[in-house]
Amino acid sequence: MNSMVMQADIISNWEDRHESLFGVELVKLNHRLIDSGLFSREALGRVIERCPSEHLGLRAMGTEIDDPKRMEGELGNASGMEAIEAIEKGRMWMNIRRVMDWAPEYKTLLDEVFGEFEARMPGFKTFKRNLGVLISSPNANVFYHADIQGQSLWQIEGSKSVYIYPRSEIFITPENVEKILLRETAEDMPYENWFDDYATHVDLKPGEMVSWPLYAPHRVKNHDCLNISATMEHWTRQIWNSYAVHYGNGVLRRTLGLKNSSTRDHGLHVYPKAAATFLWKKLGKQITGDVVKQRDFRIDAKSPNGRASLR
Ligand SMILES: [Fe+2]
Repeated sequence: MNSMVMQADIISNWEDRHESLFGVELVKLNHRLIDSGLFSREALGRVIERCPSEHLGLRAMGTEIDDPKRMEGELGNASGMEAIEAIEKGRMWMNIRRVMDWAPEYKTLLDEVFGEFEARMPGFKTFKRNLGVLISSPNANVFYHADIQGQSLWQIEGSKSVYIYPRSEIFITPENVEKILLRETAEDMPYENWFDDYATHVDLKPGEMVSWPLYAPHRVKNHDCLNISATMEHWTRQIWNSYAVHYGNGVLRRTLGLKNSSTRDHGLHVYPKAAATFLWKKLGKQITGDVVKQRDFRIDAKSPNGRASLR
């Protein structure tokens, strides 16, 4: 029996040059995820209903475009399709996390995606792969931040602007990298409007995906339409080494007040194996979903902003 989800190449316009560019430079490619049938509104409506509550992140944004105040929400009795409808007219942001852990057909798809990448890039070996789905309202923002692992963003429906900034210390200081790795911040970083003069702007449309250099700061702004995107994360040995070294430097800086530590990601021999194992376990805990204690709203597809206040 053929259990493949995809019948053709998932990336449809891969070229030899992408082997050296992927993960190092910004790479924008065309994809066929939509052909899998796993990302239609109907399919995702069912995914929302299947999603364990600890993996369903739902937030609402304030009325002001730059209002960073975040409200936490829940699905309540709404169907998945009603949730999508509510998000389409509201100012909300739904994060369906770790889909591959509880929906096997998405695990198959994720394995196919990375199987294809690994077949095209000898030496590119990934682990701790993650697939999430983001469903977000027209004009929603994801603020300036950076991520600790390899990332790619795959557009399914609607369109958005992705701004990717240089990795230099002007845009992300080593202290900021360490803070992110040590989870001392909520991943929002200091941002100035003039940073945009140095950003690469990508207009992401359905059927397009983008991947960027490790730790490159970025922010996202939806166009005036519902947005459905898949996010994929991965680790490689090199990304892990970089993490361990930066993390080690962060700990050293705090415990010894050390300045100017080396951040060369091949210097792992200085890092004791026991400490690396400790990090590995800690990271596993960090990756699990946030615990939300209090909910501020519930999905209400009939209300004008798609939600009902709980407080
Ligand atoms: Fe990100």
